Amino acid sequence: MTHWSLLGRRVLAIGTSLAPLARGPLFGAAFELADLERLADLQPATVDLVLIDADAVDSGALGEAIVALAAMGAPPPTLMVGQRLATGLARAVMRMKHADVLEAPFTDEQLQAAIYSLLDGAASEPAGSSGQGSRCWAVLGAVGGAGATTIAIEIANALAGRTTKEHGVCLIDLHLADGAASAYLAAAPAMGLAQFGPAAERMDAALLAAFTTPISKGFDLLACPRDPLAFDQVSKEAVLRILEIACEAYEFVIIDMPRHRRPWTLEVLSGADEVLVISELTVPALLAARALSEEIETALPVGRKTRIVLNRLASRMFGPTPSTAEAERALERKTEASISSDWEAAAASVNLGGPISQYRPKSKIVRDVAVLIDRVLGVADRRAGWSRRAA
Ligand SMILES: Nc1ncnc2c1ncn2[C@@H]1O[C@H](COP(=O)(O)OP(=O)(O)O)[C@@H](O)[C@H]1O
Ligand SMILES: [Mg+2]
Repeated sequence: MTHWSLLGRRVLAIGTSLAPLARGPLFGAAFELADLERLADLQPATVDLVLIDADAVDSGALGEAIVALAAMGAPPPTLMVGQRLATGLARAVMRMKHADVLEAPFTDEQLQAAIYSLLDGAASEPAGSSGQGSRCWAVLGAVGGAGATTIAIEIANALAGRTTKEHGVCLIDLHLADGAASAYLAAAPAMGLAQFGPAAERMDAALLAAFTTPISKGFDLLACPRDPLAFDQVSKEAVLRILEIACEAYEFVIIDMPRHRRPWTLEVLSGADEVLVISELTVPALLAARALSEEIETALPVGRKTRIVLNRLASRMFGPTPSTAEAERALERKTEASISSDWEAAAASVNLGGPISQYRPKSKIVRDVAVLIDRVLGVADRRAGWSRRAA
């Protein structure tokens, strides 16, 4: 799981000098300011992060408190900040599994980066039953009608068939004003975010459950009722909070992502593990897919790439369609997968309400989506490895 925000995170701050951070880089966190003594009676799993200002407390007492903290079963992620940090203290902190030190002065961004990386490190740890990090895939179309919603639904449904978890897959439709996923699935959208106002930013798992529409075993939908003003009424914090809670609760989170840039678009895409850009095999769509992928990649962490999926691949008998090789030349990159065209199956699915695999399980679309999922999960590569070894 990747962290998008500190909203609702329980941060225990030791040292009154840290108080202003609650209104700055730690805005939204459940912020508790305390003395060093508070560390002595800290119970496991009651805070998400300990932040210590080494300059604000007595260094001898701090040393003892850190030793006690480290002796806890699973100490919370701990960040110590300060000027000219004593080497002994820094070493004592770094002996903890999820701990870091940050030399003052530092910027808000440096502080947030250190905190996110500690929280990510702790979350990726298989801790008891709460288990592994979630896999979050954002799906967006290069042009309208490219098939992003269709493919997002099929991916979500196919993954639900692969997981045994009750909270297997959550499909989140981030077309807050006029999403189509609920209509495609003949489901009632229940995520009334616009009515919740700022309360949505403090959402917890219970509220998320109330917003959820169950689709089938292991497959839930989060989608907003139609509301032309929703994009203006739902804050960035609320959107990021939904994603964070969903990623904690579900094994997979699939996002049906609007193509047009919103204030939260880049943060959502940077937080996702995979970004799938869906294109058709037309020249305008391919050019748009190339441009969109480049735009997104400049904003993603260095080295991360989008994956381009070609949708509605049809036989060339039906017209002057580019071949996959020609498409890849236009895109100036390889594509990840191709999904065959099957209008009859797609129409049956949207008209009857439900995934294509429910009504037309033998459709090539279902088979091609399974191949796409294998590729993204790396299953195909693993199989190749086994067969190579067996050979
Ligand atoms: N592989 C496919 N073969 C045939 N029709 C498809 C395919 N993928 C999508 N469609 C159809 O194309 C139309 C647009 O798809 P949609 O998923 O709504 O696109 P987007 O979300 O990108 O706007 C829908 O009618 C859908 O049923
Ligand atoms: Mg759509």
